[in-house]
Amino acid sequence: MKGVILAGGLGTRLHPLTRITNKHLLPVFDRPMIHYPLQALINAGIRDILLVTGGSNAGDFLKLLGNGKDFGLQHLNYTYQEGEGGIAAALSLAEHFVDGERVCVVLGDNIIERNFAASATKFARGAEGARILLKAVPDPERFGVAAFRGTRIVGIAEKPRRPKSRYAVTGIYMYDARVFDVIRTLKPSGRGELEITDVNNWYLRQGELGYEILRGWWTDAGTFEALHRAGNLVAKTGANKLDRPRTKTRRRR
Ligand code: DAU
Repeated sequence: MKGVILAGGLGTRLHPLTRITNKHLLPVFDRPMIHYPLQALINAGIRDILLVTGGSNAGDFLKLLGNGKDFGLQHLNYTYQEGEGGIAAALSLAEHFVDGERVCVVLGDNIIERNFAASATKFARGAEGARILLKAVPDPERFGVAAFRGTRIVGIAEKPRRPKSRYAVTGIYMYDARVFDVIRTLKPSGRGELEITDVNNWYLRQGELGYEILRGWWTDAGTFEALHRAGNLVAKTGANKLDRPRTKTRRRR
């Protein structure tokens, strides 16, 4: 499965911090923000990765990450998004790179405590059309929010005023190769963007959207509060922890 990190957009919610640099280059505790989604993909076993950047200072990603040597990669791919057409618009730039395979997409401002290797492996080997990872949050109105009937998702609303559950759709998405055809059918939303929520609802309507609840903490880092929280969470517990297989420890005699 291929991996795509979306680090385009203009990060206007973080002005003036993002006037002179890209949001995903800002520090989150002891590392630039972009390190976290990159490590998250690698921890999920994905090594063929495209980074979609945009705005000003896009060249700084090259200086920072190069070919991904510091992350044990042989090569890292880059492309550039003009303007801020939305998450689905940024993903559409990855069509050539994905080249008919399955793809795991991570938003560049999303940070997770643990890893999602088990979900990624399951999706890569399965026949499911798409898979999203959910997390219960205290402020679901800031995100895409899943509505349930029993344990079944029946709809996803983007930033609803009255959320139908506490479950936010995190910025980790897995799709089959049809995703690019789906994006071509989208119309811009009220905020003028091609919404990833519309992509997820398309798979839901086909009965082909799977989901899981993400383990460990999850946060975005796209507002001042969220950026601050992200730094504190990383400082306190660390991010992108690898699951170690439980080993039986023998008692010493
Ligand atoms: O963090 C999870 C949430 O991300 C989801 O729950 C929402 O459903 C989803 O729409 C998104 O919400 P935001 O409004 O917080 O997304 P934002 O505009 O902050 O973009 C998140 C990342 O996506 C950003 O760090 C870079 C990338 N992006 C965004 C846009 C608008 C791009 O690469 N290009 C873009 O044009």
